[in-house]
Amino acid sequence: MTQKRILVTGGAGYIGAHTAVELVQAGYEPVIVDDLSKSDPTLLNGIEKITGQKPNFQKGDCTHYEFLSSVFKTQGPFSGVMHFAAYKSVGESVQKPLEYFRNNIDSLIAVLEVMKEFGVRDFIFSSSCTVYGQPDQIPVNESAPFKRAESPYGATKQMCERILEDAHTTGFRIISLRYFNPIGAHPSANLGELPIGIPNNLGPYITQTAAGKREKLTVFGDDYATPDGSCIRDFIHVVDLALAHVKALEYLEKQSGTNTYQVFNLGTGIGISVLELITAFEKVTGVKLPYGIGPRRAGDIEKVYADPTKVNTILHWKTKFTIEEALLHAWAWEKKLPAKG
Ligand code: NAD
Ligand code: WQD
Repeated sequence: MTQKRILVTGGAGYIGAHTAVELVQAGYEPVIVDDLSKSDPTLLNGIEKITGQKPNFQKGDCTHYEFLSSVFKTQGPFSGVMHFAAYKSVGESVQKPLEYFRNNIDSLIAVLEVMKEFGVRDFIFSSSCTVYGQPDQIPVNESAPFKRAESPYGATKQMCERILEDAHTTGFRIISLRYFNPIGAHPSANLGELPIGIPNNLGPYITQTAAGKREKLTVFGDDYATPDGSCIRDFIHVVDLALAHVKALEYLEKQSGTNTYQVFNLGTGIGISVLELITAFEKVTGVKLPYGIGPRRAGDIEKVYADPTKVNTILHWKTKFTIEEALLHAWAWEKKLPAKG
């Protein structure tokens, strides 16, 4: 049987690479496109170590229509597209708003246009819980209104979702997946998060501090209206997230017609505070984390976690990994990386 080929933009990055692995395991043939602007090719080796197959990797920029068109011509036909390629740093987006709008919006439009040219309908988009801002009700479900985005990055995700909502009626079948806070690594420790420079996100900051690459972790605020005063998030294992993409693709493939648009939260439904995550890390790894309390970080939401009922029911997807497993896997991955310096 010929395998179905799936274009995975941004597949050299953290979530895209884990999803490429799950696509192979589910019998698909991922074709990865990435310009390596925010990653290095190391994760591609990890995909090969886990799957035993060298990934089909095409280096290039998804904002370039001609490049994408040549990939569709030479590496297709594709039965679907998963679009991970985007810039994702909230802080950097405040410094470089135009770069973020250009990259995140242009790449989406170029990918959709080329899909149209080649008659490809099925599309899965990496959205984010950031589209909600600080929701009025927690756990937050998909019908919660968007608050004004706190950052240009958040605004790009809101705009992309709006583009998809409008464009799906022209013959697409689309799912937007709103990720909460991905953490962890592949259980084999051959794949994980590899941030360039100083990490923005809590997960890699914890593991790099534990590994001695960072002097100490600062907890951004302990005076929030939460039980221990630190912010609350919905941390989700990256492999669970990756598996949800396969479920989403299978769901689209089962649709009889076109013009589908669905949005799903991808979270565990469990809120965990920053201090609880630190304690859990220390407990499962036995490593003492040097940390201190600092001021609040501008733009941080006090607490947010998902209502995952819709994705549990419609995509039949539930998280399999615990937070402890996510932390252990992240730590196993970190320990395999080159030491400081
Ligand atoms: P990542 O930075 O590890 O991966 C993104 C990849 O896209 C990188 O390899 C980068 O080089 C590539 N890329 C960026 N612009 C490109 C372009 N124009 N052409 C080709 N390649 C390009 O990020 P990630 O954590 O894997 O995130 C994947 C997606 O999920 C992004 O869209 C991000 O906004 C979204 N998301 C991430 C999180 C998170 O916390 N990691 C949460 C919610 C949503
Ligand atoms: C989590 C918590 C920090 C680092 C961001 C984006 C969101 C999505 C996921 C892409 C917060 C605290 C962090 C540190 C800390 N990405 N923290 N010390 O801010 O929830 O979400 O990534 O779509 O859009 O906004 O994730 O990992 O940065 O922070 O205390 O050194 O950890 O204040 O409460 P965040 P994060």
